Amino acid sequence: MRVITTIEEMQDAILHAKKGGQSIGYVPTMGFLHEGHLSLMEKARGENDIVVISIFVNPLQFGPTEDLSSYPRDFERDKELSMQKKVDYIFYPSVEEMYPHPSSVTVKVNARTDVLCGKSRPGHFDGVATVLTKLFHIIQPEKAYFGTKDAQQVAVVEGLVHDFHFPIEIIPVETVRETDGLAKSSRNVNLQTEEREQAPILYQSLLRAKEAIIAGERDPQKVVALITEMVTEKTDGKIDYIEVYSYPMLREMIKLNGKFIIAMAVKFSKARLIDNIILEINEK
Ligand code: PAF
Repeated sequence: MRVITTIEEMQDAILHAKKGGQSIGYVPTMGFLHEGHLSLMEKARGENDIVVISIFVNPLQFGPTEDLSSYPRDFERDKELSMQKKVDYIFYPSVEEMYPHPSSVTVKVNARTDVLCGKSRPGHFDGVATVLTKLFHIIQPEKAYFGTKDAQQVAVVEGLVHDFHFPIEIIPVETVRETDGLAKSSRNVNLQTEEREQAPILYQSLLRAKEAIIAGERDPQKVVALITEMVTEKTDGKIDYIEVYSYPMLREMIKLNGKFIIAMAVKFSKARLIDNIILEINEK
């Protein structure tokens, strides 16, 4: 495994692999790898000749009051884990390498960002789309792997790839969870002990909603109310949003039908957690 820190060297390695007819699978990350990332790497390893991951905490996607400076980092551990997963290249650029001067061009996402994380984190998806546009150009993968814990990100990236004609297949990979149901996230380490004990309620409330839907509930507002009650009663977290939308278009729904997402974001003292489930009902 090679760690590459410059764009030029990364492009050379990619060119070499392409000349040799090798396929490239890419896993973009911000590091502090957890089992969610490892499952993306495993899938990439099984489907491509060369696996590239990037580790870059992208300042552009953090708001001024967000956790950029406290975002957890442990490159040595990330390197060890990537080696275990037989990654070929870690692209690990500095902020100066990626953004040497103020950008003359950035990407603005116009659809699917007025709801969920896009609404509570203005500019976040513009930052994600801008950095991925650069990274996709540098790494030129045939396939790129994203976790569905960030389901809105998957939908936005699918829009980016479609609209900008990137010849890349986006592969969504299911959320990996702790045994108590909490979605794996780099931010979980920032939970206080008591908050960590409460955090599985998020997923439990989504499963409770799913049960209600299976039992016949079709009113999105009632589903939201049910989850809200459970999270409010059983955690100290502050609800950022609990919402239901069609998926992947993220449009409002009057009645549950077709494919839809139930998504939530809850703020604990030092960690904002997100989770979701995607369900499908096909009724005439
Ligand atoms: O999901 C993430 O970790 C980031 O948003 C990504 C895709 C690496 C872009 O910075």
